[in-house]
Amino acid sequence: MTELDTTGALPIARSVAALRRQIAQWRKQGLTVGLIPTMGALHEGHLTLVRRALADCDRAVATIFVNPKQFSPKEDFAAYPRTADSDAVKLAQAGAHLLFMPGVQEMYPEGHATTVSVGGTITQGLCAPFRPGHFEGVATVVTKLLLQSLPDRAYFGEKDWQQLQVIRRFARDLDLPVAIEGVATVREADGLAMSSRNAYMTPAERQIATTVPRAMVEAARAIASGAPVAGALDAAKAALTGAGFTGIDYVAYADGETLAPLERFAPGGRLFLAAWLGRTRLIDNIGVP
Ligand code: PAF
Repeated sequence: MTELDTTGALPIARSVAALRRQIAQWRKQGLTVGLIPTMGALHEGHLTLVRRALADCDRAVATIFVNPKQFSPKEDFAAYPRTADSDAVKLAQAGAHLLFMPGVQEMYPEGHATTVSVGGTITQGLCAPFRPGHFEGVATVVTKLLLQSLPDRAYFGEKDWQQLQVIRRFARDLDLPVAIEGVATVREADGLAMSSRNAYMTPAERQIATTVPRAMVEAARAIASGAPVAGALDAAKAALTGAGFTGIDYVAYADGETLAPLERFAPGGRLFLAAWLGRTRLIDNIGVP
């Protein structure tokens, strides 16, 4: 498995050795490398990351690995959509040069015992209490992907804003020699943020889901115009419940960098939301201008 698999739409490295060999060849030629870590089930949001990488770097390497360490036992690891063949075609069409698609044994061989854990306010609120162990799983796998490939830049969607801050934090704290690039959320025409998990929704739930961007925009407008934060957040929660959301993990206004909660309008503040529609957990965030 130290060779590339070149039988499909895109060359695939299934081992760290094959990945490193290809990247070393590019480095010898003086080429720069952009990394796009994903869990597959690719949509336009992921392909936008690829295009950004291609605009900045000579070579774009996408990764697909459904990382078991970032799912808790009750979460959707088994159900997570796995669409590797069509993903490879999409990546090739977007212009990616290589796909790294390791198995679980390659990423976490027998005896693997090291995790990366980010402390501070970034991992205290928002999704953290609802998804214990999630950010440690993300930080661990992204650290490994960055060290395996040593790219110049790595690209992550702003839809997972808390994840992006976690990644920025450990990259800085561990002096990883890579630029972490956040890329704006890509939305459907009706405003819903693109997500691989949107595929879980029934057509009726998909209709209801448009309440998320609408409620967030309303709340952002209210906070920006000086309305009390608590009232704006309560109104957004009421809109979600009224539309048929089955659970709300949080609707919050917090600092975009530290993620510490804000009680009144402040520059750099963002609105964050996580809510359930049946078995689908939707998350989103927007800046409050
Ligand atoms: O955002 C994702 O798809 C995942 O959390 C990531 C960054 C690829 C790590 O598994």
